[in-house]
Amino acid sequence: MNVGIVLLRLIHIFAGVFWAGAVFTLARFIEPAAAATQPESNKFMQRFMGGGFVMAMGIAGPLTVVAGLILYWIDSGGLQNGWIATPAGLGFTIGALIGLIAFGIGFFISRTTAENLTALGKEIQAAGKPPTPEQMAKLKALQQRLTDSSVWAALCLVVVVIAMATSRYL
Ligand code: HEM
Repeated sequence: MNVGIVLLRLIHIFAGVFWAGAVFTLARFIEPAAAATQPESNKFMQRFMGGGFVMAMGIAGPLTVVAGLILYWIDSGGLQNGWIATPAGLGFTIGALIGLIAFGIGFFISRTTAENLTALGKEIQAAGKPPTPEQMAKLKALQQRLTDSSVWAALCLVVVVIAMATSRYL
């Protein structure tokens, strides 16, 4: 048994299942519900985003990508075209590239937007009075940016999961 490959696959698939599942749930259910119940939902979203979720995503995403890229390197024999040009190689390559895009959206847009949302929420709470019209506008804009980035990441991850689930048998 190749312990290294088994460990890499375990890390890759556990982290990948969490990452993809969380993005699907966030984009399709949590954020639409939060947007529909503002401003009451602001407290929940602040607690949710500030309660370790962003950190968990910040671990699951990189673990999926790094383990996946190492597996890709091993499978391709060090990026040999001979493997990359096979149907399976092309499938994993498309999945990996779109996976990197989903990771980029999550890491550079969703994560920073969630952090800005949490910071603004704390600022409003510390003021001890209802949010000003400017703060409300900023909250809405950040919430929309978070929703849009989650939807785009989710669409990418649908393609990634299809590629991962089928490439070996192409
Ligand atoms: C940048 C992102 C990703 C890269 C570079 C990547 C790369 C890879 C590679 C190279 C393999 C083949 C491993 C082997 O030969 O044993 C693989 C398998 C797999 N990946 Fe990914 N992957 C990525 C994202 C994901 C995501 C988000 C999921 C979500 C669930 C996922 C789920 C899987 C599964 C289930 C397999 C096993 C498929 C099989 O062996 O038939 N991957 N991945």
